[in-house]
Amino acid sequence: MPQTTHESRTEVTNLRAAFRRRAAVLTAACAAVLVAGSLSGAATSQAATSQPCDLYAAGGTPCVAAHSTTRALYGTYNGALYQVRRASDNATRDIGVLSAGGYANAAAQDSFCAGTSCVITIVYDQTGRNNRLTQAPPGGFNGPAAGGYDKLANATMAPVTLKGNRAYGVFVSPGTGYRNNATNGIATGDQPEGMYAILDGTHYNDGCCFDYGNAETNSRDNGNGTMEAIYFGNSRGWGSGSGNGPWVMADLENGLFSGANPGNNANDPTVNHRFLTSIVKGEPNHWAIRAADATSGALSTYYNGARPNAAGYNPMKKEGAIILGIGGDNSNSSAGTFYEGVMTSGYPSDATENAVQANIVAAGYAQGSGGGTALNPGSTVSLRATTACCAGRYLSHSGAGVATTAVTSASPAADKANASWIVRPGLANSACRSFESKNTPGSYLRHQNFQLYLHPNDGGVLFANDATFCSQAGVNGQGNSLVSYNFADRYIRHYNDTGYVASDGGSNAFDATAFWPDDVSWVVAAPWTP
Ligand code: AHR
Repeated sequence: MPQTTHESRTEVTNLRAAFRRRAAVLTAACAAVLVAGSLSGAATSQAATSQPCDLYAAGGTPCVAAHSTTRALYGTYNGALYQVRRASDNATRDIGVLSAGGYANAAAQDSFCAGTSCVITIVYDQTGRNNRLTQAPPGGFNGPAAGGYDKLANATMAPVTLKGNRAYGVFVSPGTGYRNNATNGIATGDQPEGMYAILDGTHYNDGCCFDYGNAETNSRDNGNGTMEAIYFGNSRGWGSGSGNGPWVMADLENGLFSGANPGNNANDPTVNHRFLTSIVKGEPNHWAIRAADATSGALSTYYNGARPNAAGYNPMKKEGAIILGIGGDNSNSSAGTFYEGVMTSGYPSDATENAVQANIVAAGYAQGSGGGTALNPGSTVSLRATTACCAGRYLSHSGAGVATTAVTSASPAADKANASWIVRPGLANSACRSFESKNTPGSYLRHQNFQLYLHPNDGGVLFANDATFCSQAGVNGQGNSLVSYNFADRYIRHYNDTGYVASDGGSNAFDATAFWPDDVSWVVAAPWTP
């Protein structure tokens, strides 16, 4: 990817920060002791002096990649965290921190992306090694974007707060992925390494493979042992743990491992904390899985032992690429949300990781709001179009069809009821919403082939995903926009009065850029049929 002047400036900043960090290692070592010893200390002063990569350095296993869209991972880091691109003019903007060692400047993203949609184009590497993550290229499998690349994440789909500071995560719906195949300092062969990632434990699927970590440098399946990455999800294709999942497992290529044995290892429990700390680390004939609630408590160790009982994983043949949201061969049917993560040189001690977990808890992750009007579960609403043509029209169904219909106080009762929706917690994720028909109980708004329909809930996973929409402030500044949970580049839109889930400038007629911000923005009105 060619560097712009803008990006080069970022790298210079990163390098300067790296030199400053080396000078700060001794300070960080002292701070690490303090953080490890006190979970209840003042988070603000901890954040200024010692962040996860300072702790790893103090433990003798420094970060060689550090990615976060929410905060600095070094106490001195003052550069860009990530870059966004807006659809209106394809301009890009680096999003930095509020202060050195601090939280993301989400307001900069909000103002840059106002009135349009934005995707995350780069997640910068805070170590100064330029191990940044960008749009993943085709490999063993093609992605759905131009040239076989994977899609980029919608920049506003994963709102969070950290100690009250607004930030955004990387929301991976199927087809989305990031990668770096030309890295610097990442473990290769059987070299030791560690990694952690903070994930949304409620956002997952059984597709291959929502990973963060070490993978093949040619985006292809190069055989057993050519990867070592954190996997999160409920795939049972290779391995599983106890319960129904999701599980933290290690993707070691041609296998998701939950312990020594291929297949099921009952000691790897189902974990679905809203904010999940996940850890995989490996060294010659030894590896471990650890995890925790990222908002409280300590890490648990789910596996700590020898390499798997299967040929090809000892010694390992790691290649040193970095992936996020995909499998090593660019398998891209997985889902998940990433907030921050690092990879280290050397096998981190449990004590170092415990200090990092304390730092993560102190960072204060909490659910954020997408903005707009609150859509309270159990309430009934009508959704009014905001495009100038159509401001008297409401999202309605007629049988299974979904379109906008003009509704007034004089309209027949049936038209009013057709335009009234009961707000439900999202069938696929309660942080988002589903819309049950007021007059057809058990039937929900869902998309199919990107068109909207009213269908009875069949109880399946696909239906739940298709019927779940995440609410944000309206793109045009009015009301709310409703983003598809499983196609997060697509928003509920009216086009020629018909209902669709539409991307901003995609290949279908209903993806047209003209009027897109207005067509995807809906005023949440009092229901025509309460
Ligand atoms: O190991 C599981 C998956 O198998 C890898 O992520 C992918 O490269 C292969 O399809």
